[in-house]
Amino acid sequence: MSGRLIEKKIVVTAAGQGIGKATAIAFHREGADVTATDLNDKTLADLKKEFPGISVQKLDSTDNNAILEFTKTLDRVDVLLNAVGFVHHGTILECEEKDWDFSSNVNVKSMYFMCKAILPKMIEQNSGSIINISSCASSLKGFPNRFVYGTTKGAVIGLTKAIASDFVKKNIRCNSIAPGTVFSPSWQDRVNQSPDPIQAKKDFIARQPMGRLGTAEEIAAVAVYLASDDSTFTTGTTISVDGGISI
Ligand SMILES: NC(=O)c1ccc[n+]([C@@H]2O[C@H](COP(=O)([O-])OP(=O)(O)OC[C@H]3O[C@@H](n4cnc5c(N)ncnc54)[C@H](O)[C@@H]3O)[C@@H](O)[C@H]2O)c1
Repeated sequence: MSGRLIEKKIVVTAAGQGIGKATAIAFHREGADVTATDLNDKTLADLKKEFPGISVQKLDSTDNNAILEFTKTLDRVDVLLNAVGFVHHGTILECEEKDWDFSSNVNVKSMYFMCKAILPKMIEQNSGSIINISSCASSLKGFPNRFVYGTTKGAVIGLTKAIASDFVKKNIRCNSIAPGTVFSPSWQDRVNQSPDPIQAKKDFIARQPMGRLGTAEEIAAVAVYLASDDSTFTTGTTISVDGGISI
């Protein structure tokens, strides 16, 4: 690694597993001072054991009071990476109001809370980079049975552009990443919970033009770019990292 994030203080949400975890590790390997947060303290403890140099903090990104308390413990934040997300399976007809509310809270409101709590520090510093994990299933492309997931991930792209626009003069950048299907624990759960897991796995892979899933590390590599000073002219954009699924 080339130390591209030396002296940067970074907060990552949903860092217990999957893309959030791979990103926290990649940031750490590039020299950043990383605080990894997640709902799940067991996976955070495992991360801490493997990488003692990463700070861990249990945090529910839908709990605004907890976020505000957590934010008080931070002196500065150069980068915020929001990776929290949940996939609801179904069309609008299978999406009950409780599913709509849950997905909206986890996928969008969590990012609103985290950005709102941390932005004042970035304004004070006159610098910052916010990275939000959206999805190719969003305003970029429609997928079957991803009604509320795609709706909320489209909202993440809108939220990203709105923040980028409001704070561009404060030297604060805000970008999102739209992954294609990426191997992660929750993806494995979705496969295992389907009526025919072998066929479900084949179907996920078949829809990827490269004929394979992405890795969390391939998403993390782009997050490192957006966190680093290599991307200082990049704001308000969504980078698709999807193996060609949105072509
Ligand atoms: N895996 C994919 O194929 C894929 C594709 C496109 C986008 N994404 C997005 O990438 C992000 C990460 O997904 P993944 O599949 O890599 O990881 P994952 O779904 O396996 O893990 C999600 C993590 O989020 C944590 N979490 C859930 N709710 C939380 C909350 N309220 N507060 C704090 N932490 C919470 C969980 O404990 C878990 O550690 C999500 O936003 C997801 O929508 C994933």
